[in-house]
Amino acid sequence: MKILALNSSPRGDGVSKTGILLNALIKGMEESGANVENVQLRKKSVRQCVGCYTCWTKTPGICVHNDDMSKELLPKWLEADIVIYATPLYHYTVNARMKTFIERTLPAWEPFMHRVDGRTHHPIRRKPPKAVVLSVAGFPELAVFSYLSSYVNMLFGKGLLAEIYRPASEIMTFPIFQDKTGAILAAVTQGGRELVESGKISVQTMGNIAAPIVEDFDAFANMANVFWKSCIDQGLTPLEFDKKNLV
Ligand SMILES: Cc1cc2nc3c(=O)[nH]c(=O)nc-3n(C[C@H](O)[C@H](O)[C@H](O)COP(=O)(O)O)c2cc1C
Repeated sequence: MKILALNSSPRGDGVSKTGILLNALIKGMEESGANVENVQLRKKSVRQCVGCYTCWTKTPGICVHNDDMSKELLPKWLEADIVIYATPLYHYTVNARMKTFIERTLPAWEPFMHRVDGRTHHPIRRKPPKAVVLSVAGFPELAVFSYLSSYVNMLFGKGLLAEIYRPASEIMTFPIFQDKTGAILAAVTQGGRELVESGKISVQTMGNIAAPIVEDFDAFANMANVFWKSCIDQGLTPLEFDKKNLV
């Protein structure tokens, strides 16, 4: 099984919570025998779609841009059995880098409109890869992902194998929550194994992935506010705050 993992976080390894979860998922998938390629989209040049429809008319299937998307990523996307779309939640949806990637898959479709079960579709030139969506968010409620979930269900339809959502992701690296984070990452790894072995993630594993780190969301908000106030008072970004080992 060929899996293409796309991480659209602008942050690097160890800092990106998307990356921390994605690495745990990939671990499980590889343990179950999948061949996974992990692509950091921040290191790739993926220009924005200009809406010219050249890829639908003059050069069917081929984009006008000659960048990493055209040369490397779209061919890999077309070859994959499963694509993991791993994105931080930005303004309740995928971040702009991931959205740009998704828009640039347009050459894979044909322009014609087909009506199936009361809905209009563009036919795809070849079988599309199945999708797994992974996202992390700062807020503690799982409901923060509801708009993203609605979007990806519309986008991928029956091709969507799993949605892995982790709220309150920023506190995962706090030493005090080490045990809970360990259990969450173990559940994500288990989810990776289940996906490769059965094509889905069990309800129990999904529950373990989304388990609250802090049960009291009012206390969570108070804790976050003390943290941000300290950053402002000290004139430090969160990363600088961590590097100084401040608590
Ligand atoms: C521009 C921006 C928009 C964000 N929007 C949301 C949001 O709508 N809801 C939320 O809970 N967190 C939001 N966050 C917080 C991120 O989802 C969170 O920090 C996440 O851990 C970042 O993932 P990363 O470490 O992989 O980059 C936002 C952060 C940024 C920088």
